[in-house]
Formats: sequence, structure tokens, C-alpha cells
Amino acid sequence: MLRLEQSLNQQGLATDLQHLILSLADCGREISALVRGGALAGVLGVADTENVQGETQKKLDIIANDLIKDKLAANALVKGIASEEEEEVVAANTDGSYLVCFDPLDGSSNIDINSLVGTIFSVLPAGEGEVNQHAFMQPGTAQSCACYILYGPATVMALTTGQGTQMYSLDPKTNDFILVDDAVTVPADTGEFAINMSNQRFWQPAMQSYIADLIAGKEGPRGRNFNMRWIAAMVGDVHRVLSRGGLFTYPQDTKNPEKPFKLRLMYEANPMAFLVEQAGGKASTGYERIMAIQPEHIHQRVAVILGSANEVDACLEYHAQN
Ligand code: AHG
Ligand code: MN
Ligand code: MN
Ligand code: MN
Repeated sequence: MLRLEQSLNQQGLATDLQHLILSLADCGREISALVRGGALAGVLGVADTENVQGETQKKLDIIANDLIKDKLAANALVKGIASEEEEEVVAANTDGSYLVCFDPLDGSSNIDINSLVGTIFSVLPAGEGEVNQHAFMQPGTAQSCACYILYGPATVMALTTGQGTQMYSLDPKTNDFILVDDAVTVPADTGEFAINMSNQRFWQPAMQSYIADLIAGKEGPRGRNFNMRWIAAMVGDVHRVLSRGGLFTYPQDTKNPEKPFKLRLMYEANPMAFLVEQAGGKASTGYERIMAIQPEHIHQRVAVILGSANEVDACLEYHAQN
């Protein structure tokens, strides 16, 4: 039974980074308690506001965002933050050595149906100088750490600092995160994929052909059957990929010509790509490695194809041909 604190220490991580990760875990612990309270904790339902993404905010989007913002601002190691729910980056502590990007509540459409939601963090090194958007414009390869906390039947935390991916489970008796897998491994092959099929008519030709061939099953060019799952929370879908493999994608579409991509690079795609790659999987846009993208905006969106290495490669072949 190794507690998070002990496990971080054992990994030989810099003390600063250990402390920061413990703050992220604290945020997860507190949001987990609120989620568990559900209607009784007054956290369900919509707020009367819209975020910079043009989405109507849920109450819990705002509650989780404020909770994380306050907790991180109180940690002297944090120099600045960027959140899905904040239009601009926020300066925190001048002498801090880290920048933290986060999705306070991923899968917010699930909260009112008592289904999976989570929190995603990406940690970048802070350079010298002002905290402005420019300071955050570092590719995913620069991440010091990435993690998510999934508020499911159990609250779990997936973490990477570049030494593989570890999984922790929150012990409801002691409120400690306990190490349950010290080397998460995504199998290279899979028979499972995740995509929002209702957007099919809006996809590009490469994704159209790839998915059509999966659905054709045994009788099609792939010569075997594939099963489909869609949780509508990236954190839940990626957790399934880390748990038993699979391919998850939110591809480019023409549903809303002004918004060809759904998922956000800095606090969704990059941290998930880091976790999946460190577990032996792959993460691409179809044309380039997600973590190699030079960001241009904190709320930038990208196409995401991630998961079991051989299946991501199979999908990329369709993109190479189209
Ligand atoms: P968020 O709730 O943080 O805005 O993110 C929602 C994202 C992602 O978690 C999920 O994979 C996707 O949106 C679901 O999209 P659809 O509603 O189109 O299925
Ligand atoms: Mn949102
Ligand atoms: Mn999200
Ligand atoms: Mn969100």
C-alpha cells in the first residue's frame, strides 16, 4: 500500500514537483467530495453564464474552476494558470516555477445524469518574466507532468512525469490516493474504438473510410469485428484506453465551419497524449504528433486520435492516403 506521497518520493522527483502534484491531488479530492454529494451538495444544474468556448457553463464547471484557482494560487510554486473556464491566463505567484493548464470539469454534460466526469491537468515549466499567454506557448513535449482525476464509481488519478504512467485510487476510508498500477500499459492492438458517430456525415474522407472499415467488421478489409463505446467525457474514454486499450478520436468535422475541432490542445489533448504515450500508446492529429504541436493560443483546438499504438497507426495510414 503505497500512498501518493511515498510513491512520488520513490520516483526521485524534484521536491517542488512533488509538492505541486500533491496540490493537484488535493483539488481532485475536494472536487470528488462535491461530486459525491450530487444534488445534496447543490452542485448540479446549469449556471447563467457562458464561457470563452461559447458553452453554457454548468454550476460545477464554475465551482471546480474556482476551487482549483484558489488552491493553486495559494501554492507558491505556481506562477500562472490557464483554464478552460477562464478567457485569459491568470498570474499567481511571481517566484513560482510552474504554469498549470487545466480542464476543471471534463464531461460536464454528464454531471446531471450522474455519469463520468473528471479533472485534467497539464504542468509546464515557467520561464523568467511576465505571466502572459506567450509564456504558455510550449509544446506538449515540454510538460513536466500531466494527470487526470476521474470521479467514477471509484475516484482514480492517472499521473505521468515522464517515467511511465501510474494509476492511483482514492481510498474512501482514509482519503489517501493509493498506488494501484505503477506501470500502466496500453496494449498495442485493440478491437474497440470511441467516436461520436452522430457527426459521421461531417467528417473528412480519411476518417469516413477508416470508421467504415471498422464497422464492416469481419467481412470488411480489416477482417475482424470492432466494438464501439462513447462516454462523452474524454477523461472516461481515455481511462478506458489506459485500462484495456482502444482507439479514441474526436476528429475534424464541418458541423460548425467556425469550429472544425472540438478538443482543446493545452488542457485536454496534450496531457492525455502525455499519459497515453507514457503508457506505450500513441496520440496524433492524423498528420502530426499532438505533443509536437507548437501552440498559438491557450484555447486552441485540435483533432485527436489516441490509444493503442497499432490501431492509431492503422488510422494514420488512411490519413496518409487522403
Ligand atoms: P468539457 O465538458 O470539458 O467541455 O469537454 C467535453 C468534451 C470531451 O470531454 C468529450 O470527449 C467531448 O467533449 C464530447 O463531445 P460530444 O458532446 O460531441 O459527444
Ligand atoms: Mn466545457
Ligand atoms: Mn473537457
Ligand atoms: Mn471542462
